Amino acid sequence: LSVGDYVVPGRPGLGTMQSHCTASKKDRWIKLDRGMQLFEKCGNFAPAALFQTGGTAYRMLHDPVEHLIRPGDTIVQNAGNSAVGYMIGQLATHLLGARVVSLVRRGNRTEEQCEQLVDELRTHGQNELVVFEDDLPEDNGSNPNTKSALRVLLTEHGLKRPKLALNAVGGRSAQHLISCLVEGGVMVTYGGMSRKPFGAAAPLIFRDIKLVGYWHSRWMTRASVQQRRRLINDLVEMVVNDNVTPPPIKVFPLASFAEALQWDQSGEAIRRKVVFDCREE
Ligand SMILES: NC(=O)c1ccc[n+]([C@@H]2O[C@H](COP(=O)([O-])OP(=O)(O)OC[C@H]3O[C@@H](n4cnc5c(N)ncnc54)[C@H](OP(=O)(O)O)[C@@H]3O)[C@@H](O)[C@H]2O)c1
Repeated sequence: LSVGDYVVPGRPGLGTMQSHCTASKKDRWIKLDRGMQLFEKCGNFAPAALFQTGGTAYRMLHDPVEHLIRPGDTIVQNAGNSAVGYMIGQLATHLLGARVVSLVRRGNRTEEQCEQLVDELRTHGQNELVVFEDDLPEDNGSNPNTKSALRVLLTEHGLKRPKLALNAVGGRSAQHLISCLVEGGVMVTYGGMSRKPFGAAAPLIFRDIKLVGYWHSRWMTRASVQQRRRLINDLVEMVVNDNVTPPPIKVFPLASFAEALQWDQSGEAIRRKVVFDCREE
């Protein structure tokens, strides 16, 4: 490393919420080969939301399902408007040629905000189809012979039955994902935003659905320096080359943390990550 290099922490948590730290050689910083171009393109703050979300999305699209997804295949996810979901849409389209279907919730959004959300996810998030899960009838997946509402919608839009589902929500939402998977399909769970469980006995028995989990911190701890460097620099390369965009953010000075928390709860059409500017004023 030399003075002026752009680096990111090479271990989970290293450097989080602190202005200075000492790190052993083992915790090596990862140098960004095209760091200056990244910051010129996205400004000082957007890269803060790129690596955790983009790294999680990238690995989930590759590790549990190596060579499973072919161009034109469908991938279905929930929390499609989350930062990770935003990266999944773009990476799956760019790297795998897949067609991504996202479940999102209306929540307290107005009709106009819902339209804005769909528009954003289709244009920037590169989603093929956005479905409001509140509009789908309950689906407990117990009857393997009944076509799920989501599966019917996919067919109507000329989309294949998905081989891969990415679940950040759990509960009723995860149930919709499982029900539309192809026989032998895989659902990767990486979050449980609803804090609700889901059942899957019939899909496991009759359709051989596989349920696996993913935790990016574990990958970052176990992967070699070369693997981590490659992942980080691949993400930078895709952003610099205009293939993907980091998730939307909103910047607050650290001193305004109370305002930031309030803003985060207030609900907007497009979800944005809060990024704190920790520079001293
Ligand atoms: N396993 C890993 O390695 C890993 C890595 C990164 C993130 N994660 C997890 O992935 C999830 C998404 O992270 P993120 O940073 O991308 O989140 P984010 O940008 O803050 O977005 C949160 C998402 O969750 C949805 N949501 C919140 N509460 C919900 C509920 N009760 N029911 C249904 N949906 C709900 C939000 O929808 P609305 O906009 O409608 O509120 C939004 O789509 C989190 O659970 C996070 O912990 C896991």
